[in-house]
This record gives sequence, C-alpha cells and structure tokens, in this order.
Amino acid sequence: MSYRDVYEGWKSDPEGFWLKAADTIDWVTPPTKALDDTNPPLYGWFADGVCNACHNAVDRHVEAGNGDRVAIIYDSPITGAKGKLTYAELLEQTSRLAGALSAKGVGKGDRVIVYMPMVPEALVAMLACARIGAVHSVVFGGFAAPELAVRIEDAKPKAIIASSCGIEPGRVIAYKPMVDQAIELSSHKPEFCVVLQRPQVEAPLVEGRDYAWDAFVASAEPAPCVPVGGMDPLYILYTSGTTGQPKGVVRPTAGYMVSLMWTMKAIYDIEAGDVFWSASDVGWVVGHSYICYAPLLAGATTIVFEGKPVGTPDAGTFWRVIEEYRVKSFFTAPTAFRAIKREDPAGEFVKKYDLSSLKFLFLAGERADPDTIVWAQDHVKVPVIDHWWQTETGWAIAANPAGIELLPIKLGSPTMAMPGYDVQILNDEGHPIPAGELGAVVIKLPMPPGTLSTLWNAEKRYISSYLTTFPGYYETGDAGVIDADGYLAIMARTDDVINVAGHRLSTGAMEEVLASHPDVAECAVIGVSDALKGQLPMGFLCLNKGCDRDPEEIRKECVKLVREKIGPVAAFKTAVVVDRLPKTRSGKILRGIMVRIADGQDYKMPATIDDPAILGEIEETLSSIGYAQHG
Ligand code: COA
Ligand code: AMP
Repeated sequence: MSYRDVYEGWKSDPEGFWLKAADTIDWVTPPTKALDDTNPPLYGWFADGVCNACHNAVDRHVEAGNGDRVAIIYDSPITGAKGKLTYAELLEQTSRLAGALSAKGVGKGDRVIVYMPMVPEALVAMLACARIGAVHSVVFGGFAAPELAVRIEDAKPKAIIASSCGIEPGRVIAYKPMVDQAIELSSHKPEFCVVLQRPQVEAPLVEGRDYAWDAFVASAEPAPCVPVGGMDPLYILYTSGTTGQPKGVVRPTAGYMVSLMWTMKAIYDIEAGDVFWSASDVGWVVGHSYICYAPLLAGATTIVFEGKPVGTPDAGTFWRVIEEYRVKSFFTAPTAFRAIKREDPAGEFVKKYDLSSLKFLFLAGERADPDTIVWAQDHVKVPVIDHWWQTETGWAIAANPAGIELLPIKLGSPTMAMPGYDVQILNDEGHPIPAGELGAVVIKLPMPPGTLSTLWNAEKRYISSYLTTFPGYYETGDAGVIDADGYLAIMARTDDVINVAGHRLSTGAMEEVLASHPDVAECAVIGVSDALKGQLPMGFLCLNKGCDRDPEEIRKECVKLVREKIGPVAAFKTAVVVDRLPKTRSGKILRGIMVRIADGQDYKMPATIDDPAILGEIEETLSSIGYAQHG
C-alpha cells in the first residue's frame, strides 16, 4: 500500500482507520467507538475503552513468552555504566515500585512528579505510575528549583520520585537539594519522596518524608495493572508557552497507545525485537513517546543513553552505540548533528564503526537545515528523515512514512501530513492560501488519537491558546508553507517561543525573570540565530532611571538570575544594556525587528514605529558584541 492510499483511507473513514489501529493494543474492555465528538471543540478518542498502558508496554510481552527479550539497554558514556533489562526484569521492577507507591496511598488519578536523569529507573518510575493509574509528570533535569516548584504547584503531586543527581560532562548536579528547595517554594507539599541514590551522590533524606528507592521497594508486594478509562490521563508534560506559566499538556491513555503503535511500524519501520534508539531525554516529549512508551508498546528494545553527541568521550559516541547494539532506526535532534559535524567535518569517526544495522535516521525538535541533512546523508549513508511535531501532539504531524513507503526527500521539508492530521495553511484572516505561500500552519479538528485532550487545570487556556484564533482548527504556533506536491516546510514560530538546541523555551518566561531584577526597568528577550543550537536567547535590559551601578555587573547578575530561576537549559548567556527598546506607537516591543537586526538581515521600517532612531542604537550595540553582521 502506498502512503497516498493509507492517507486517503484514513480520510475517507477516520473511525474505521482508528478502530482498526486500536486492535494492536490489549484492552480490558475494547472501545465500541473511536471518536467522541459530543463536546466540540473538545474531542476524545476511545472514551468507552478500558485499558492500561503498563500492561501494554510490559506485561503483555512477558505473557506472550517474550520475557527474555531485552526491553531497555542502558549506556552511560558519562559514568561508564552499561546494563540491560529484559521485559521480565522490567515487569518485576515496575510492579514492585507500583506496589510500594500504592501501599503509600498513591492511586488512580493521583499525580507523581518524576525528576530524574537518563537512567532506566526513570522509565520504571513512569511505567509504575501508569500501572496503578497515577498520572506522571516528568520534569527535565536541566530546569532549576523554581521551575520545578511551578510544576509542583500546578500538578499537586502526592509524591515525587527523584534521583540523587544528574551527571553532565565535567560536573555532577545534585538533584535532591533542588527538590527540597522546590518543595519549600511551593505551597503544595507532596506527601513523600522516593530517591534513587546514585553512587556519585548520596542525597540526605528528610526523616519521615523521603525514602531511598532500594529500601522503598525492598519489601513491596508487586501491584497488578489497574484498568483505566481510555480518556484518563497517562501523564502531564509541561511545555513552554508565551508566559512564565508553563502549559501542562494532558495526554489521554488509549489514543496515545494506539497512535504510537501505528507510528512504530508506519513511520519508524520498527517491529517487536528490533532495536530503536532515540537520543533525547525523558524530560521531553520525544523521551516520553520514543524512549519510553512507543518502543516498549511495540515489544522492541529501547536505549537509555546518558551522554552527549560530542565530548562523551568524542564525536564517535553515537556511531559506537549504533554498532554495539545493532540499532535499526535512530532518532535525534539536528543540533546534535551540527555538534558532531563541527568536531568531525570529514566524518572520520563515522568510518570507524559498522553501521550496517542502521536503516533510517530521524530528525525532529527543530528545523532541520539542509546542510546538516546533506552531511548526515553523505556520511551515515541512510535516508535522513526530518519529521515535525510538538509536545502537544505526542507524535509526528508530518513525516516520511518509512515503514509504508519512503517518499522522495525534499531538503528543508518534513515531508507530508500523517493520517489523522489534515494540515492546512491559513492567512491571518483564517482563509486558506495558495500552495507555496507562507501562513499559519493549522490542523483541522478533530486532532487524531494521542494528541492532547486539554491543559491541566486550564481548559479555558487550552481553548484560548489553541482553538480560538482559527475556529474549527488547532493552531500549531508554527508558520510554514505547503508546496504544490503537498510537501510541508516549517519556517518559524508565530509566537514568542524559541527553540534552543531542540529545546522549546519561552522568551516571556525569561523576561519575567529579568524584570524581577531590582535595577531593570524594562526588558526584552529574543531568539538570535546560532550555528550550533539553532537559536540562542539574547536579553535587552533598560535600567531604572538614576541607577548608577556598573551595567556590566547588572548584566552578569541577570545571566545568573535566569540560570537560577529557569535553569542551565535556558542557555541564557548574552544580555546587553540599552537605553531604550524599539516600540510601536501603541507600546508593543518590536521583537521581530530586533531579531532581524541581531541576525544581520535586512528589515522594513514598520510604519507604526514610535522612534526609528532606536533601531540604529540597537544595531550599534549589537555590532559591538559581534552580532548584526551583514553578509
Ligand atoms: N541536568 C542539568 N543540567 C543540564 C541537563 C540536565 N539534564 N541537560 C543540560 N543541562 C545543562 C548543560 O550542562 C549546559 O550547562 P552549561 O551552561 O553549564 O554548559 C546547559 O544545560 C545547556 O545544555 P545543552 O543544551 O545540552 O547544551 P550543551 O552545550 O551542553 O550541548 C549539544 C550542546 C548540541 C551537544 C546538546 O544540546 C545536545 O545534545 N542536544 C540534543 C538535544 C536533544 O536531543 N533535544 C531533544 C529534543 S528532540
Ligand atoms: P516541542 O514541543 O518541544 O517538541 O517543540 C515543538 C516545536 O519545535 C514545533 O512547534 C516547531 O516550532 C519546532 N519543531 C519541531 N520539530 C520540527 C521540525 N522537524 N521542523 C521544524 N520545526 C520543528
């Protein structure tokens, strides 16, 4: 069957398409209907089905006699540790942790925050929650305590499962003090914490509140899988919006399993027993979908890799892992390839390894620039597939469905819409625009199974952020083009979200932090182009009148403040002090123009600008620190 047949098959009978896909998972009670469209613009999938995600990801493979198959490979070039967990071992660990959690009163619908680095126990923690119907919310380790606190405040977890530390090249980061500080900052207090003590750091435990993982599970009775409703949330994953308050994306259980199962074969060409590797982090959506759930649902082997593309120990690490574990499909972010290409432009490391197991290389998380794709194609010598999605969707909106049919690759395009997604390009007035013209990328409602059902505790925000600008459509927040052949290209965000090394960050959140500095009267943060990370944040600070402190000191304090409040992942290292910010006559800061100036691009003077002279001042300041270079 061709991609076209599959896509048209879905379009002509979405209900039939998804009910058939639903046969690939085990149900306690199978759904009688796929789509619930009784409450538009909110939709549900498999609402009357009853199931359990942990059963589908773990138990059923053991029950089918595949308990000896490797579920998780752990490889940490940072610590030198390596290990394997079979499906039977994963079942043992998961059901025991689930039992210990439920003995402490954690049950269906309760939230559990997971704050862990790339260790297999992070997956065990997620699956243990799923097993007892608890809703996990994994927080990326690169976020600082105040960001963790915001998530504790919003999700109101009964428990936190954390690791004693995360390990970055050259430094060990103690996580537990951040957990303690976050609990201190939050008005909601979790009842207890479970701490995985890693050999590098022994975390101090608070008597009566904190439990060491090993002791916690030692005497626990294994817990069975708890049946949950199809629309019951499997997890909440916070992602950046335009303000400092992150959005808690809610992922319903059944549709997520069904859609992920469909993608494993259709997009990634992965079946039971294959080795699939996604070099992301469990803290991001890619980690949820393609390190944890999808490969395990499919009965494949997943790799938990605690390392970086370069420096752990060198630019050959990825190739070593692919050779050592015979990886079939590999998924990473373009920035990782840019980092490798910078260290190994001639691909000398690639040649040292046997990559014969590798069939496809998938890229997502940010725009894949043609140079990076061509370098990867030339050196890795497999099809390099860009695909586009978001935390909200949980799986690819547009991709090249390698497991159905590899479509011709067009550089700069994540190829075409996947079944379930009717992707359109609209102008500001909400009208469709001709092929080849840039506009807002939207998805006609309903979105397919697996996509978010709402924002946690914020249904109004869900509707106003995504479903209101273009009635009847989901607004992706991306701008793009569909060409005459139906190929999509994603060009930029339409909001103040930036993408730094494949990480989605809010400039608004950084502005809120900068504005809290006592000497800062006004500020703006923009994303400037960066050859390695795609974009980097840059702050503009206007100081209070009469402030006579050294601007350099204030600048440094601001950089430190963002690191302390948001975390190192923000990569906020550049700030400049300016007299004024360019604004429209109505007071709106002209961030788009500032980006063009910083990147050395031409720009059109907006008719609404309050004082054009400010742009010259900004250009001068930026060129003095190496930006605003034309050509
Ligand atoms: N815990 C604590 N700190 C973390 C962290 C974690 N889990 N992850 C990252 N950080 C820190 C880093 O140590 C770094 O700190 P520094 O400012 O002291 O150097 C900072 O956050 C930025 O990290 P990172 O974005 O990883 O940049 P880097 O310079 O260390 O590495 C790349 C650059 C390109 C190698 C790296 O960004 C990379 O591998 N990117 C791939 C991204 C990816 O897979 N994204 C997932 C989306 S699909
Ligand atoms: P996140 O929710 O962190 O996965 O970030 C989603 C955003 O990253 C999207 O809305 C896009 O702006 C960007 N993005 C992800 N994948 C791609 C891609 N393949 N091409 C272009 N942009 C992408």
